[in-house]
Amino acid sequence: MSALDCVPIKLKALPIDVHLGCKIYFKNPGDSSELSLLCEDQTITQKLLDRLKRAVFPESKVYIPREAVIKLLFDKGHYLDFSQEHIKAIRNLESPWIKKEKPIEVPKIPKPSKTEGEQSSATPKDFKPTPNVQIKTFQDKIKSHIELQKYKEVIKVYDEVKDSTEDMLTNAAETGKIDTEQSSSITQDIQSQVNNSEVSLIVRTINQIRTVDEYLHTHCLNVAYLNGLMGKWLGFDKERQDELVETGLFHDLGKLGMPPEIAQKTEGLTPEEFEVVKKHPVLSLEMLMKSGIRNKAVLEGVIQHHERVNGTGYPKGMQGREICEYARITAISDTYDAMVTKRIHADSHSPFKILHEFEKGGYSELDFSYVNIFISCMVEELKGKEIIMNNGSEAVVQFVNPSKLLYPIVELNGEIIKTDDEFYCARMKNIVQE
Ligand SMILES: [Fe+2]
Repeated sequence: MSALDCVPIKLKALPIDVHLGCKIYFKNPGDSSELSLLCEDQTITQKLLDRLKRAVFPESKVYIPREAVIKLLFDKGHYLDFSQEHIKAIRNLESPWIKKEKPIEVPKIPKPSKTEGEQSSATPKDFKPTPNVQIKTFQDKIKSHIELQKYKEVIKVYDEVKDSTEDMLTNAAETGKIDTEQSSSITQDIQSQVNNSEVSLIVRTINQIRTVDEYLHTHCLNVAYLNGLMGKWLGFDKERQDELVETGLFHDLGKLGMPPEIAQKTEGLTPEEFEVVKKHPVLSLEMLMKSGIRNKAVLEGVIQHHERVNGTGYPKGMQGREICEYARITAISDTYDAMVTKRIHADSHSPFKILHEFEKGGYSELDFSYVNIFISCMVEELKGKEIIMNNGSEAVVQFVNPSKLLYPIVELNGEIIKTDDEFYCARMKNIVQE
């Protein structure tokens, strides 16, 4: 085993009574890069620690595979009850995979006076961000360059499809009909991007800032993209993926002609405004029928996209599996994109915050089995990505516990750190400018 794939841990950092289901290595005397197996699958006891101490003397460290260290902080999806001492010791790991220029201290940030679990991107007046001392290697620069090129390509295609969607909706508003040739072309463009581009870059593009005047066509497009991703994650065949994308693209057509300030309101509607908004699934259906679209699965998906599994939706108040599959999936994409829009206006742009809020509000009304798939796949895309912490330092996402979405485990200058409400992700790193 190479030392580069492992993390050295001081023996005193190993928590007593915790079972380590991984291999434990020690450094070969005289060879700084190769490790030998010491033991595996052990429960840490004082007796074992004494034995390890003798075996690794004069070093007081053992080496554990990097993946196992991350899992050390969790046990079957739940945090282990580590004491502060243990957490501190694990934070003091000496990492061999990134050269540490000088130790970074995570500054204490006073707790904001707000409700539990809430975060703010604001920093205190006397707070100075920690300088990022990580030196970029040539390989890092090449990687950043390739990622930037890929991102630019995704944005270019997305912007072209967005223009086509705007054009399609402008024509639909004038004629009362959809140009089906144009909608098919948009569907194919979305499908091609969903299946051939990096999903994390698509999600990043969907999450980007949008203006009020481009709300409706951007929202329809984003829901179509998200439906495309769900179709891909669920293993749908091409025909069903196309239908799901079309359902997303068409779901809010009935909002054409509504004042934008009512059309994009997700909460705080007056009873009169709500009566207006409630008509849009039926209006969407009527426009599709008028345009000659007869695909029953798509039409059902559109008319039912505001039905909720707990029966609180509209227009019919359907429940559970009475609601068709495309509508249950579109409700997830629709809710997520509305949440992204809301977070943009609230000036907080952490993907973890968005997923956390989405999860918090989503389970009672949405199909939880699809919500779970959506969140798990989104979380998977965040692993290994660079983020900016609330003190301005750069970190890399290592592990996200689905039951603690707000607090991913990150790597910061070679240290594995469990984030919390004092040290948390503020936003994704901007690929273009940073
Ligand atoms: Fe809608």
